[in-house]
Amino acid sequence: MIEAQTKGSVSQLYPALARHWLIACRSSDLRHKPLGRTVLDTHLVLFRSASGHATALLDRCSHRNAPLSRGWIADGRVVCPYHGWQFDGAGTCQAVPGLCGAPQHHTRQVAAFPVVERDGFVWIWPHNASPTSAPYRFPLLDAPGYQSLTREYRFDAALPDALENFLDGTHTHYVHSGIIRTEGERKRTVAIIRRDAERVEVEYQDEGQQSGLISQIFGAGVDVAFGRFIMPALAQLEYRAGAQTRLLVNLFFTPETANRLRVFVLVTAQVPRLLRLVAPSLGGLLLGTVVKQDRAILKLQAENLARFGGPRYTSTELDVVGPHILRLLKSAQPPAIDQPLPERRVEMLM
Ligand code: FES
Ligand SMILES: [Fe+2]
Repeated sequence: MIEAQTKGSVSQLYPALARHWLIACRSSDLRHKPLGRTVLDTHLVLFRSASGHATALLDRCSHRNAPLSRGWIADGRVVCPYHGWQFDGAGTCQAVPGLCGAPQHHTRQVAAFPVVERDGFVWIWPHNASPTSAPYRFPLLDAPGYQSLTREYRFDAALPDALENFLDGTHTHYVHSGIIRTEGERKRTVAIIRRDAERVEVEYQDEGQQSGLISQIFGAGVDVAFGRFIMPALAQLEYRAGAQTRLLVNLFFTPETANRLRVFVLVTAQVPRLLRLVAPSLGGLLLGTVVKQDRAILKLQAENLARFGGPRYTSTELDVVGPHILRLLKSAQPPAIDQPLPERRVEMLM
């Protein structure tokens, strides 16, 4: 079992999270049963109300605090498994079995959290204050000619480490050797780093097709790639051929705790005609392999961080995104940047 790498609650560690929506689950996973989820150390029960809308309550019955997520749904209300109290989507108690008086009372109220369902995901605002922003919109989802697939995983890792891992090209020769890139086949590449208050973008010029299997299958014509960190927890890779997006990989990392993440993957691709039938299974297989490799190395890293009592990192010019991610996540207020910061160029062998 991994000891806390980083002590304290995840919201205290990364105050920027308090300004953002997070993904709680995929829409397709929210059907006829209550679903228990932890987001930013808050234990929630998600379910569909009578109108079919996704709703989220604190996963603690107001009576004797049994977990509502272990109950069931009746008429769009969640039923507590202990004495059968029923709560609607707003958290109001609507039934107390055996009670002759009215079930509603303010002391029986369970806290409800704002929820938005869009793009196949259920987004939650797991904070005490009212929403001050809107959930992120994934690009290209309904664009003609594109196919999408979603997956969900769990990682034992701290949020900035997982975000950096996905956006870091320099581990791919080792952790994903042969699948993404291969050592011994490096190309000179220029990375251009752009940063504003809500994102960091790295444009990789001149690499062209990468040396691994994924590029051999899906990467025809790709001439530029982008890696982006978008607040608060999205790592996005885009591969373009000219002005056209060929492949867009989104990984949204919802922190359950400081060291445990739920990872929502959305891959959107312009698939060559010949591959359309096999693309979902082949893409899913390659994605599964890559994620397994990342999960293993992140777990090793987290275990070693725990052994040594926390991070003591050093970086080179190749570590283009990690330090920015940490700075943005740790800023309680959005950094005051009137104009985009000047671009930075780094030459590297990728
Ligand atoms: S604990 Fe939930 S009804 Fe009693
Ligand atoms: Fe990786």
